[in-house]
Amino acid sequence: MASPYRIKDAALADHGERRIGWALAEMPVLRGIGERFGRERPLAGVRISACLHVTAETGNLARTLQAAGAAVRLCASNPLSTQDDVAAALAVNSGIAVFASRGESTEQYYADIDDALDHAPQLTLDDGADLVSRLHSVRAELLAGVLGGMEETTTGVIRLRAMARDGALRYPVIAVNDAASKHFFDNRYGTGQSTIDGIIRATNVLLAGKNVVVAGYGWCSRGIAMRARGMGANVIVTEVDPLRALEAVMDGYRVMPMIEAARVGDIFVTSTGDKSVIDRQHFEVMKDGALVANSGHFNVEINIPALEEMAASVWEPRAFVRQYTLTDGRRVSLLGDGRLINLAAAEGHPSAVMDMSFANQALCSEYMVQHADELENVVYGVPQVIDKEIARLKLKAMGIEIDVLTPEQTRYLASWQEGT
Ligand code: ADE
Repeated sequence: MASPYRIKDAALADHGERRIGWALAEMPVLRGIGERFGRERPLAGVRISACLHVTAETGNLARTLQAAGAAVRLCASNPLSTQDDVAAALAVNSGIAVFASRGESTEQYYADIDDALDHAPQLTLDDGADLVSRLHSVRAELLAGVLGGMEETTTGVIRLRAMARDGALRYPVIAVNDAASKHFFDNRYGTGQSTIDGIIRATNVLLAGKNVVVAGYGWCSRGIAMRARGMGANVIVTEVDPLRALEAVMDGYRVMPMIEAARVGDIFVTSTGDKSVIDRQHFEVMKDGALVANSGHFNVEINIPALEEMAASVWEPRAFVRQYTLTDGRRVSLLGDGRLINLAAAEGHPSAVMDMSFANQALCSEYMVQHADELENVVYGVPQVIDKEIARLKLKAMGIEIDVLTPEQTRYLASWQEGT
């Protein structure tokens, strides 16, 4: 039976196919895993529901899981991140049941999650925990059949840990985000590059000489700050955590409260995971022409309803830019509807970092099938052997060799007798 799907336009499949192929060239670790999965079929007959950004990189992950023998259903983890051509290629050419279209309404977004859940998954893959949340609330009848799940992102892991704390989580989940081979690279270099890419594609703004305010100093924000500085911007960091703030200071950034940064910033980027980080009082003091973007998972970091209330008029000078003219004549431009700017206006993280993130997803899917019955209904880290193996494979694919401890060095590290 052909898989069902709901996508924007099946005629885009050829374009999507080329894009998936282009991405695969930069994903050697996932490619190698896919080849092994094809031989060993570790997910034979396993039903997977995946709620991820539907991109070329995700396309390669879906095909890797399919090569392992899984039946994959895929929906979007954000209404504005789907690459419709990729969705078409997966549905038409691979028989993957994709339910996603770029720009879909909130109702359609949840209807798509429901369709992705309809085959009663044994494994779930999530990016932000909307699918897990839906499964535990509206679709709880399906919970008994779920072995376990994987979560891709910081925001999702925070939500899942809250569920586990409340005793509400009904199956084990592996926090892929917490793997070193994921967040050191994807969150930092991926978000860093793709966020700047999204801002530039949306606006064509020059970063050199601008004051760029980065809200938060987690792994994603560190990447954004680092890359903005690399483009010649004067970077200001805002934080609530004293250790992170101190780190930002010693990394050479100016650190101040948002209410002060709001007066001097030219470009604002939020990546904190919390809500109303840029709020009414900040819009009230911003300079004319300020650009405001978000790179955190949900579109709550910028108080958009407040901005709408404060506006005398609104227009869209170009795609992904909504400019609000406030009653005193100052203009503030919101980029990408306040949704993840790197996926709304650009193409998300480059394939070379998603290679490691999705290698984690693939290997943890295999691990979960083998070990689910030993696990409790809590959030687990990625097993260290998987994390290290991914780094090893990535280095190998890059043609980089590293040293090995001599027996004497190994003994020394395990001993305590030798000192000064
Ligand atoms: N999250 C950020 N970038 C992504 C990409 N390229 N594919 C899937 N998920 C992502």
